[in-house]
Amino acid sequence: MLRRVLLPILAALAGAPVALAQEGDAERGAVLFRQCNSCHVAEPDGPSRTGPNLYGVLGRTAGTLDGVRYSPAIREAGEGGLIWTVETLDGFLQDPRGYIPGSRMSFRGLPDLQDRMDVIAYLTGDAPVVHSSELGRLSPEIFTIEGDVEYGEYLSSECVACHSASGSDEGIPVITGLEPEAFILALHDYRDGHREHQVMTTVTARLTDEEIASLAAYFAELEE
Ligand code: HEC
Ligand code: HEC
Repeated sequence: MLRRVLLPILAALAGAPVALAQEGDAERGAVLFRQCNSCHVAEPDGPSRTGPNLYGVLGRTAGTLDGVRYSPAIREAGEGGLIWTVETLDGFLQDPRGYIPGSRMSFRGLPDLQDRMDVIAYLTGDAPVVHSSELGRLSPEIFTIEGDVEYGEYLSSECVACHSASGSDEGIPVITGLEPEAFILALHDYRDGHREHQVMTTVTARLTDEEIASLAAYFAELEE
């Protein structure tokens, strides 16, 4: 399986930013991930070891996986709006303690860009790739609104008429187990007109930010 991740890098050349594209090779990333394996696994429902389980880390707010004793530094970074995207992971993996001073991750980093892209491609798995630029459309506070799971369940009754957990062949995506950040971004995009789909535009038009957070919290908890 070869998964490709495109990373637009802004390289300041003679003062003018130039966009480069770099591809990651997930198979090579799986081999490189052995360096991380002493502290991390990346498996659905896998355990957190010295470091947190990295399954589905793309789209996750830094320092927020349940049951992990994070450093105050990484938790504060998350509260400040740091979300793991291709770009932020690239920065962190290059120099963990330079990127988050005070982080508990004692790993010297991956100096080679290709190595970082390959590891990120491996971590991407089947998750939708979230880029900082997309998340940047919304203010970071949107992602910190506490969702009410029970209220989300109540609101979900009109969603499951179309979005069944088992999926369907009519082009309706499965939304159970979706990362909250990706879920929130999708609903805001429909509501704000950044993403076009007649049904979803109508459905989201009535939803408040709190209701979107509650739906995201509820669907994230459902088993796939
Ligand atoms: C020596 C152990 C160790 C190694 C090796 C290590 N990590 Fe970590 N990692 C940690 C710890 C501990 C944390 C939590 C950091 C904190 O609390 O400040 C962490 C945090 C992270 C996070 C943030 C996760 C979150 O939930 O916010 C990512 C991403 C990450 N590591 C990726 C990697 C990758 C990829 C590698 C290999 C290239 C790697 N780490 C190697 C120990 C390690
Ligand atoms: C009448 C059917 C229908 C209803 C009701 C409906 N959806 Fe959707 N939903 C769709 C379709 C079709 C798509 C794919 C649209 C597209 O291609 O962008 C979609 C897309 C989505 C996505 C984006 C998924 C992704 O992978 O990008 C999310 C999240 C979502 N819906 C959540 C909800 C929620 C929450 C509700 C209830 C409040 C809801 N939907 C109600 C049909 C429906």
